[in-house]
Amino acid sequence: MGYQGRFRVWRGDADGGGLEDFTVEVNEGEVVLDVIHRLQATQAADLAVRWNCKAGKCGSCSAEVNGRPRLLCMTRMSVFAEDETVTVTPMRTFPVIRDLVTDVSYNYAKAREIPAFSPPKGVAPGDYRMSQVDVERSQEFRKCIECFLCQNTCHVIRDHEENKASFSGPRFLMRVAELEMHPLDEADRVPAAQSEHGLGLCNITKCCTEVCPEHIKITDNALIPMKERVADRRYDPIVWLGNKLFRR
Ligand code: SF4
Ligand code: F3S
Ligand code: FES
Repeated sequence: MGYQGRFRVWRGDADGGGLEDFTVEVNEGEVVLDVIHRLQATQAADLAVRWNCKAGKCGSCSAEVNGRPRLLCMTRMSVFAEDETVTVTPMRTFPVIRDLVTDVSYNYAKAREIPAFSPPKGVAPGDYRMSQVDVERSQEFRKCIECFLCQNTCHVIRDHEENKASFSGPRFLMRVAELEMHPLDEADRVPAAQSEHGLGLCNITKCCTEVCPEHIKITDNALIPMKERVADRRYDPIVWLGNKLFRR
């Protein structure tokens, strides 16, 4: 049975805005995005919301529900009590364009700062060989749908605009780790992880991992192993020399 749900939705743009209250019909089996669409259709035709697949796969509908970073299309209304007010706000870490839509171009700029996969010269793409364990390791990271919820959540930039220039965020530190762990990648990613992508600013709070809709173990499987590689180079001259001379 449907009911009348209470919603508080942030409306505004780069110049400012605030929360507005609405009462919207909610039906069984619906997700927050369904209700936002009904709100658009019936009461607020100009409400801006970004979405695409409605299946948790495009990463477009990221926002915050009751202060928690979430995909609007994967957040079931049944997790809230019928008399609860559900507050929907845009991601806090990125500048608002309008209403629930934020400008996530910080992420694209960080993606471009990572040098591309560098396979060995002279080996044709069809001749690349790698072991199954290495395939599986990077497969976890490649589940990323680029929703940027982890980027939005990480405290290093969430309330510290000044850190954005020097910190790539968990999603892109994970990309650096993925390439560094790739047996066919010939670039040395370790020094840049620290000096250019800001790995040292991560103090492994794991908040990024907690919000990842793909359940990627960002901290345990990408960030900590990458930190270990940095530490090995720094504190163990033998490992450092070995890496220099015999790496791969
Ligand atoms: Fe989203 Fe997870 Fe990818 Fe981060 S790692 S962008 S939370 S899918
Ligand atoms: Fe941020 Fe994740 Fe590290 S939340 S501090 S990148 S463990
Ligand atoms: Fe594609 Fe939500 S609309 S992930």
